[in-house]
Amino acid sequence: MNVAGAVRQDRLWQRHADMAKLGGTPKGGVNRQALSPEDAAARNLLASWAKARGFSIFTDAIGNLFVRREGSEPAALPVMSGSHMDSQPTGGRFDGMYGVLAAFEALEALEDAGLKTRRPLIAVAWTNEEGSRFQPGAMGSAVFAGRNKLDDMLMVKDWKGVVLKEALAETLAAAPAPMREVEVHIEQGPRLENARTTIGVVTGIQGSRRYIVEALGEEAHAGTTPRVARKDAFAAATRIAAAMYEATTDADDTLRFTIGRVEVYPGSPNTVPGKASFTVDMRHPSEEVLEAHEKTLLAIVAARAAPCTARIDRVTAVAPTDFDLHVIDLVRAKADALALSNMDMPSGAGHDAMHIATLCPAGMIFVPCERGISHNEIENATPADLAAGARVLVEVLVELANR
Ligand code: GLV
Ligand code: MN
Ligand code: MN
Repeated sequence: MNVAGAVRQDRLWQRHADMAKLGGTPKGGVNRQALSPEDAAARNLLASWAKARGFSIFTDAIGNLFVRREGSEPAALPVMSGSHMDSQPTGGRFDGMYGVLAAFEALEALEDAGLKTRRPLIAVAWTNEEGSRFQPGAMGSAVFAGRNKLDDMLMVKDWKGVVLKEALAETLAAAPAPMREVEVHIEQGPRLENARTTIGVVTGIQGSRRYIVEALGEEAHAGTTPRVARKDAFAAATRIAAAMYEATTDADDTLRFTIGRVEVYPGSPNTVPGKASFTVDMRHPSEEVLEAHEKTLLAIVAARAAPCTARIDRVTAVAPTDFDLHVIDLVRAKADALALSNMDMPSGAGHDAMHIATLCPAGMIFVPCERGISHNEIENATPADLAAGARVLVEVLVELANR
């Protein structure tokens, strides 16, 4: 039996169902935000499965969780695969979790097939990929790759003022740098489904930048304050937002611009808002285009705030990623060998692999998700597609781990 044949679709699917109970929502999705009790429960469940299979488990200082299957040369650099277990507040069951469970399934399939690889294999769950509670996202992989400083990240606060360091209850242990990393994920967009294709051979990830825009005005009585005397911060924020939507509407629909969180202070129906803020998430495959649009956003904030004042601060910036050509070729070759339809494609979403790609050659495998919907509780994928992705993964991992 080839090792892909040892991948068990039923087991992989059941593990998704078990994990979906942790933070499960009435609409069938999950709310399992980074370093919440639900995230802790998912970590414990994965660790219990790993223990039962005799794999070793360890964490690093930012809480990345590693499950290791020993190779015949334990000192050789390991090959890694994984994704994240945290979710959006109204997230689906597959975003991230699939990549962790597919990597774990690969380890189990190897165990069941009695196949020893030369290099150790590590399934990893990176801490806080979503970045919806603690910013920035893809935090664990960024710290692991040395792109963000551990000490800075430990002091990050969530929206309620909880310090990450306090939310992080895991113990410390050193993690070895990997020799290669491959991450499996649902596509989170519609291209594979529309093309009736099972496997996305991921060539890279578009660049992304996040900002906070804050407008400051003056609180005043809603019933008595004439228009000329008002410094309505929300009105300023909406003028700025409207101009930004217009300036980021490109002809070829490539630029992605999202305002995902808005806060108005003091949030009283009969007080003119004195402060309003919103987040901006902007993405494009070209760094130059992102740079040019950043200048436009700055100009809009300066021009549209009066009579209020406003500022825009960049919170994160991740340059576009090109994946390793050899890993890309290997993913395509393994999909072909398994007779799975496949196509090359870039990733619209960000993933931990974008940081790990700065550390070692990396790549990704996509499978379709229903109607391309993600960051939504109704996110869905088929058991067969999930298993297909895991089969390609295990074949790729075996090849890399025997090099
Ligand atoms: C990850 O979830 C992203 O925002 O792309
Ligand atoms: Mn994800
Ligand atoms: Mn996500």
